[in-house]
Amino acid sequence: MKKVSVPAEGRDGGIAALADGILLVNRKGASWFVDKDRALHPLAVAVPVNVREFLDDPATAGLVMAPQFGVKDILVDERDGVVRLFASFNFWFAEQDCYGLRVALLETSLASLRGEASPSGEWRTVLDTRPCMPLTRMPGGGSPHPTLGAAGRLALRSPTELLVSVGGFRGENEMIPSSEYWSADNSYGKVLLVDLSSGTSRPFTVGHRNPQGLVVTRDGAIWETEHAARGGDELNRLVDGQNYGYPAVSYGTTYDAMIWPSNPQQGRHEGFARPTNVWMPSVGISQVVALEKGGFPYWQGDLVVASMAMEHLYRVRIEDGRAIYAEPMRLDHRIRDLVEANDGSLVAKTDDDFLIYLTNVTAGSAAAQALAPAERGQLIATTCMGCHTLTPGGNQGIGPNLHRIVGRDIASSEGYGYSAALKGLDGVWEGELLKRFIADPAFVAPGTTMAKLPTYSDQQLADLLAYLETLR
Ligand code: HEC
Repeated sequence: MKKVSVPAEGRDGGIAALADGILLVNRKGASWFVDKDRALHPLAVAVPVNVREFLDDPATAGLVMAPQFGVKDILVDERDGVVRLFASFNFWFAEQDCYGLRVALLETSLASLRGEASPSGEWRTVLDTRPCMPLTRMPGGGSPHPTLGAAGRLALRSPTELLVSVGGFRGENEMIPSSEYWSADNSYGKVLLVDLSSGTSRPFTVGHRNPQGLVVTRDGAIWETEHAARGGDELNRLVDGQNYGYPAVSYGTTYDAMIWPSNPQQGRHEGFARPTNVWMPSVGISQVVALEKGGFPYWQGDLVVASMAMEHLYRVRIEDGRAIYAEPMRLDHRIRDLVEANDGSLVAKTDDDFLIYLTNVTAGSAAAQALAPAERGQLIATTCMGCHTLTPGGNQGIGPNLHRIVGRDIASSEGYGYSAALKGLDGVWEGELLKRFIADPAFVAPGTTMAKLPTYSDQQLADLLAYLETLR
């Protein structure tokens, strides 16, 4: 895991994979090319989002959701020598004091997205949601705003068919008539299909609350993630024409009661397309990607779902249309966007302005040799984790917790039942002693219950120590 600090302006914006790097656009529409060495190059390409106009307009003063106005997602499609950059963003119609979600398209060159040539081409609007939404405020600071909080995710179903998720509008207690919500007269609470050749759009699926992620896999499956009301974040497989139930039914509940008032059978999801997986309680779900480029051979074909509130990634194995498991992986950052880079690594964009690169490296491989000693040591330390936890305050396992082990008094982890052999040993765990203990525990402390491990080379022991030193 490698972190790169980026000028992302907090939440929203988006990232997309380019041939040999990442395109980053922040909430305000500025863009960067992040090359394969993870160096940032500012680009002249700017998404035509009118953030300044929106914030300077007296009509938006004090609006709770104002800091969420901006770019929601980007998508790059490279075909037949032409590069298409799609961007979704909020658009402020100052004359009418209302806003919507706009999708615009720039046909450009790879060279200009890499910063090697000045920008070419003009942005062209391909979608404006309707009707334009007024800035009415809800009691308690909540918001009925459909496209400020989320959605605007983009995915291509074919070269001429663009899918766009649009968040739903909500009334007090979320209770609004379903017929109005599902009506094709408005764009909200839906995934729209935009026909890029004719410029028309239609609802592809309806009954969504707050969509967050969208991906079309190589086999043509379309996956969407969305925030349910309270509890029950969803992973949905989208099928043309289906209704996913909101606001009539939900596995979630309203924020002030433990029921979903309009649901004929509380806690059920009868009569509508069901999610493939539901997270209870909510994890603050965000983007979803499919692992298809071979960077993680054992995970090929799995979906990876990001979360904000829970700060985890979830690797979801789908078999025969069912989610078999969702393995959590801690990242400790709110993850807003996620892409599979062309080299197969996963890249996450966080709400606190980092790109996090996740790469699969096997201990002992040539790729591992290129890592820093502490990183190589971390790979070896997976052996230790069979018996030890390494995190602050981690559980006592077969062995004691090893957080801050370097420089710690021998046999001093609170609440662990040490052997008499280790308890009888005075001193602190410093480098040479630790390496000797790991290489041959019984030599250092005859009678210790820590078993002899595989034989490590001097370099491996040094790498392990370098890693243990980072556990502070
Ligand atoms: C099969 C289980 C097992 C594995 C694997 C294992 N340990 Fe241990 N370890 C133990 C046990 C049990 C103890 C407690 C020994 C005692 O009380 O005598 C221990 C104790 C320790 C201690 C002393 C801690 C203290 O608080 O004084 C260190 C240091 C240590 N292990 C490091 C490691 C490292 C580093 C690895 C991986 C390279 C590792 N261990 C792998 C079981 C294991």
